Amino acid sequence: MRIDQWDPADEKTTRACYEVQCAAQAADDPVAPPPSYGPFGMYLRYGYEQEPGEAWVGRDAGGAVVGYYRITLPDLENRDEARGGPVVHPAARRRGYGRELLRHAGGRAAARGRTRFSAGTTADGAGGAFAQALGARLDLEEMRRIQYLGDIAPGTIEALRASAARAAAGYSLVSWEGPIPERYLGPMAGVLNAFNDAPHGANEEPAHWDADRVRERTGIIVRAGLMRGHSVAAIHDSTGELAAFSEVLIDPESPRWGRQQLTAVLKAHRGRRLGLLVKTEMLALLAAAEPQLDRIETGNAADNSYMIAVNEQLGYRAVAPHWKFYEMPVAAALG
Ligand SMILES: CC(C)(COP(=O)(O)OP(=O)(O)OC[C@H]1O[C@@H](n2cnc3c(N)ncnc32)[C@H](O)[C@@H]1OP(=O)(O)O)[C@@H](O)C(=O)NCCC(=O)NCCS
Repeated sequence: MRIDQWDPADEKTTRACYEVQCAAQAADDPVAPPPSYGPFGMYLRYGYEQEPGEAWVGRDAGGAVVGYYRITLPDLENRDEARGGPVVHPAARRRGYGRELLRHAGGRAAARGRTRFSAGTTADGAGGAFAQALGARLDLEEMRRIQYLGDIAPGTIEALRASAARAAAGYSLVSWEGPIPERYLGPMAGVLNAFNDAPHGANEEPAHWDADRVRERTGIIVRAGLMRGHSVAAIHDSTGELAAFSEVLIDPESPRWGRQQLTAVLKAHRGRRLGLLVKTEMLALLAAAEPQLDRIETGNAADNSYMIAVNEQLGYRAVAPHWKFYEMPVAAALG
């Protein structure tokens, strides 16, 4: 296998990596549509949160792209970590390419001073078997849940919203489409810091957000116009604090699917059904703004009981495959 660094200007190779990703997703996770090309290219270039990284492409003896990897190299916290495992085309698997790409990624991670290697994959398929064969440690498990909007009995959401609104007296709702408005950048940092309480990997350091980091490191795909973003927040009337937040993204190429992003309630405001309030408000907003939408997909750490309870009230149900996140020492990836 020949492994070369990915060149963002090389459209042909980007397309070939995208084809590998789509074929891999169809094989490993046929439930949800693959990412569309634009966001995939952004991911290769910038990762999910504009963290530095490297992308490398593997070709077989005939020059065909058979796999790739992107390692993300966090630069603010978790500077001992490299994130992101190999992806191999289903037609080229079990020939040792995955192991070779991982070894290469381990070499790059070591060269960039990293000692931990982590990657996520769909549970119970090739990725999990690969991670186990290489001796990686299961770090975190995330259930996938999908809310099929057509299956919700009429009146259910309205009744839940009314009960949430009673428990959440003293809060007002605001919403926006697209990037976070300038005035909410600071408050959103508080929301993202609140997410540090949600279950995370055993060695993961919490992220420390401020307004500048929110402006610079979030919403890149929405700002690029590649997905539509809908956000709802609850404001505490007496203090003006942004107390709860929820965001759903719509990929214009698979517009029936809503992709739930972060939902979080600040610690001081928990216990007032604000999670349910922002999520029911979101459903009302989406019914008007995205009438074609018929399902919303979310992922929750298996032990995030509060968020799971909210989702189950809203009719979400667990759908396989779910996701597993693995970690191994970089030294073991090299072996
Ligand atoms: C995981 C993945 C990269 C493996 O690629 P690959 O080229 O088939 O991997 P290799 O041929 O190097 O396999 C190495 C070992 O992993 C194990 N393995 C890999 N796939 C397996 C499977 N489907 N079932 C059982 N064991 C498997 C085997 O022990 C294998 O060694 P062997 O073939 O000598 O028995 C590929 O299946 C993939 O792209 N999956 C989707 C993305 C993903 O999950 N990436 C990994 C994140 S941890």
